[in-house]
Order: sequence, then structure tokens, then C-alpha cells
Amino acid sequence: MKMKTLTAAILMAAPLALASFSSHAMDRVTLKLAHNLDTNHVVHQALAEMAKEISTTSDGKMKLRIYPGGQMGGPRETLELLQNGALDMTKASASEMEPFSQAFSIFSLPYLFKDQAHFNKVIYGPVGHAMMADTRDKGFVSIAAYVAGTRSLYANKPIHTPADMKGMKIRVVATPTTIKLIELLGAAPAPIPFGEVYTALQQGVIDGAENNEPSYVQTRHVEVAKFYAEDQHTSVPDFLVISSKVWDKLSDEQKQILDTAAKHSETYEQELWDKEVAASRKLATEAGATFLKVDKEAFRTALAPLYDDFRKDPLRGEWLSKIENEAAQ
Ligand code: GCU
Repeated sequence: MKMKTLTAAILMAAPLALASFSSHAMDRVTLKLAHNLDTNHVVHQALAEMAKEISTTSDGKMKLRIYPGGQMGGPRETLELLQNGALDMTKASASEMEPFSQAFSIFSLPYLFKDQAHFNKVIYGPVGHAMMADTRDKGFVSIAAYVAGTRSLYANKPIHTPADMKGMKIRVVATPTTIKLIELLGAAPAPIPFGEVYTALQQGVIDGAENNEPSYVQTRHVEVAKFYAEDQHTSVPDFLVISSKVWDKLSDEQKQILDTAAKHSETYEQELWDKEVAASRKLATEAGATFLKVDKEAFRTALAPLYDDFRKDPLRGEWLSKIENEAAQ
């Protein structure tokens, strides 16, 4: 913990660190990217590939230095470092972007996508691209999106229907939408940072959390919450984010190199994702986890009021219609 704070403090104290461009215009540049995932995570692997590609295509003149595993804090901290000019790039899930742009709250709507094809069409098409540019006035934009499967509940006791969740305390990513989601299921939401969930589960401060299978395993939550209830309530993508000041400072050639490598990293990550989910399920089962089938209809019904909230709000209602239209076509 102390180390993390220290690293962040050093970065904060060095605003000049805003991408180290060489004096020779923008001949050489090293971009610093911090994220909160394990180095085994496929998103990290895709970013590492991206770093290699950038270095190769620029003949070593452009570099991406990655700080994984939450060394510089969670997404809230790293997004703030971006805004302060102390960090160049980060990765954040759509939920973590919600405090900066309402558009991203849409991904916390349960059962939003008909299937993977619908999801891909939204994320990698005009709707997703419009969202990714929507945070520009907040000081950053997204240049890649990564699939993150579906998030399901897991706990220290079995969950089959929302009724089983009465009185349970469930960790969520801290956003108004995810908090309401857990409340509608009859449980108490606990907005705890990702890196602190293991201890909270272990000490019984919370009864469960929710995430996709790779994160369930890589965080070792599987050791302390053995029941993975496959309600698959949300599909929340991750985004690769860059400070808009840093982006604007890059030459056209550098922008092109970065953008191409970012697009390649999307494809690379998609290719790895399904295998990663299968491998995680196997590891979880070996670690003693039980995967439970749930009454999905009961979850859908309990969560329906979130749709009414979204439709009542002009901005969020508009994003919702755009996404629904993509499924209709
Ligand atoms: C996922 C996601 C992370 C996010 C985490 C969380 O694993 O990839 O970006 O931080 O969930 O629940 O906090």
C-alpha cells in the first residue's frame, strides 16, 4: 500500500513527466501506462504486445512503459493522474468511466446485449467510437476497447435467485448504477476498491462480489467465495485511455503508430478472451469453486426498474436507444 502511494506521490510531484518527449520536436517519446490488472490478464498481454509493436514500427523511437497490478492505484486514481498530467495512459472499465461521462453508465445496465455479436457491433462500431470520444472535455479519450465477458455474482454461499441475496453484502465498482443494481437484488452494495476485495471477503466484511471468470480467479477471490452464480448480469468492457493533451502533442506519424497498435491490441485480446474464460473456469473448479445455474428470469425481472430510470433520463435514454437499434438492424 505504502509503495503504491509513494509511486503515485512521485508521479504527482513530477508533472513534467507528461510523456517524456525528447527536445528534438517529437522524435522520441515514452508513454507511461498504468493499470490495475494482473500481468496474466489478457488485457495486460494485449497491451504488452502493443508496446512491442509500437517500438518495432517506430524503430525504437516510441516506447510504451507499462506499470501493471495497481502500482499507481486503481482506475479512479490513474484517471486523475491523467487529468493532472502525471500519467499518459491507463485502462479503465466502463463502470469506472461513469463518473466522468454518463454515456458509460449504459454498460452497467443488466442484460443490455442480445449476444456477443450485438456487443461487438456496439463497441467496435460508431456508437462505441462516439462514446470513446465523449470524455475529451474531461482531459482524456479512449483509443481501444476490450471485451470482458459477462459479470456474475459470487459469494460464500449459493445464490440461485435474488431472494437468496437478502441480507448479503456484495462488493461493487462504485457507481450509482451498480449500487442500485445490487439494491434491486435485495442485497447491500459495498463499493470497495478492486485491490481490497480479497481481504474484505476473507475477513467476512462482505459476503460476495461480482466479476467475470478471469478476474474471479486472478484476484484469488475464488479461494474465499466458492459459489459462482452464473446470472451474467452485465457485459462491461475495458477501455484503453490516453490523456488528450498527450494525444494532441503526438505527431501525425506517432498518432498513426499508436492508433494502429491499439486496434491490433483489440483483435489480439478478443482472440485470447474465450480461451482465458475456459482456462479460468477450469482453474476455479480445481480450486474448489462450484458454478451454479440461476433463475435468470428472476434476475431480469428484479433489475427491470433500472431500464425505467435510464429511459426517463434524456441523455442515457438516447444512448440506450442507440444500443437497442444496433440489435434491431
Ligand atoms: C474487471 C475489469 C477491471 C475492473 C474490475 C473491478 O476485472 O477488467 O477493469 O477494475 O473488474 O471489478 O474493479
